[in-house]
Amino acid sequence: MDQMVKVHRPTLGQRALAEALARGDAALGEGIETIPAAVYTDPERYAAERRAIFDRLPHLLGPSALLPGSNQAIAHDGYGTPLILTRDADGRAHVFANVCRHRGTRLIDSDEVVPAKRIVCPYHAWAYKPDGELAGIPRADCFPGLDKAANGLHEFSCVEAGGLIWWAKDESADFGDALALAPDLDAFGVGGLHLYRRRTHDVAANWKLIIDAFLESYHVQRLHASTIAGFFADGITVADTIGVHQRAAVGRTSYLSEIDRDDWTLLRKAVTYTYQLFPASVVIVSPDYINLLIAMPQSVGRTLVEDIMLIPEPPTNNEAEDHWQRSWELLDEGTFGNEDFQAAALCMRGLSSGQIDRVTLGTLEHGLADFHRKVEAAL
Ligand code: FES
Ligand SMILES: [Fe+2]
Repeated sequence: MDQMVKVHRPTLGQRALAEALARGDAALGEGIETIPAAVYTDPERYAAERRAIFDRLPHLLGPSALLPGSNQAIAHDGYGTPLILTRDADGRAHVFANVCRHRGTRLIDSDEVVPAKRIVCPYHAWAYKPDGELAGIPRADCFPGLDKAANGLHEFSCVEAGGLIWWAKDESADFGDALALAPDLDAFGVGGLHLYRRRTHDVAANWKLIIDAFLESYHVQRLHASTIAGFFADGITVADTIGVHQRAAVGRTSYLSEIDRDDWTLLRKAVTYTYQLFPASVVIVSPDYINLLIAMPQSVGRTLVEDIMLIPEPPTNNEAEDHWQRSWELLDEGTFGNEDFQAAALCMRGLSSGQIDRVTLGTLEHGLADFHRKVEAAL
């Protein structure tokens, strides 16, 4: 966990995007592109994505703030494998199968954080430490010769960096691109933030339709006319990549050209940075808080999306609580739930009808085309 007090300033990459916005650069595609509708609706395509992407690559489980203290644990089922995320006595994060080594019982059955100095199986009370070690067996005399050391919880690869916790089902997964994001996230101080709220949306849409909504700003003035459009009145977008991930910035050119672009507080007011963490998560950086969106596909046409809001510190009075509550409602319910996710679900219904065989992308939507090329390449 990142507990160091740091002086936060933009990274060179973040600064370069702000400079590009101040110059009035805008990232535009060269022309129209199309994507076959079947990439969103074909069950076989979905099965191939599960094998090649979701069973292989590192995925986001949540922010470090999900487990703020040592000896804590939480169950996580969104990726289809029953997991327990823990923080051990030394503060280290681990990911285990949520399955008892005795006879397979599910160990933790709550999606809230639980104290976990010992994780005790509800069936016969085998007890595990939050580092996975099998610590105790009632009536141990009935298991002659059992090697306790070989019966710890099954552990998966896990990396905590930049204030985010990643895991992979595949033990040979490469976390290099997850680590490469850490300097950018550290610049926002993500590791020191407080988890204000989290909520899981159940969206009747293919997972890529959720991600698509965060890869173009073409819809912002239309779909979000009554929520956030005003914040992006003359917004333009620039973008680049960090490994397989995409970094984008939307900003107000005129205001940006007037401010000290090394002043992080002013810069964050002028520029909204968003990151698409390949494959299926998004980080949205507002002036004083951050949302993580973690999309977890359940079937070709259904996706759970967890929205997590991170704020600088726990609210200490009603005024602060009201402030964060309004921000939470504006984005979680208003913008994401009722607009972006709803649009994704409507898209899914239209595409599933089979009435069009391809979608058409304009020059403002080339970020989507890049994303779909990466998905294609991963298959
Ligand atoms: S199944 Fe867990 S202790 Fe028996
Ligand atoms: Fe949107």
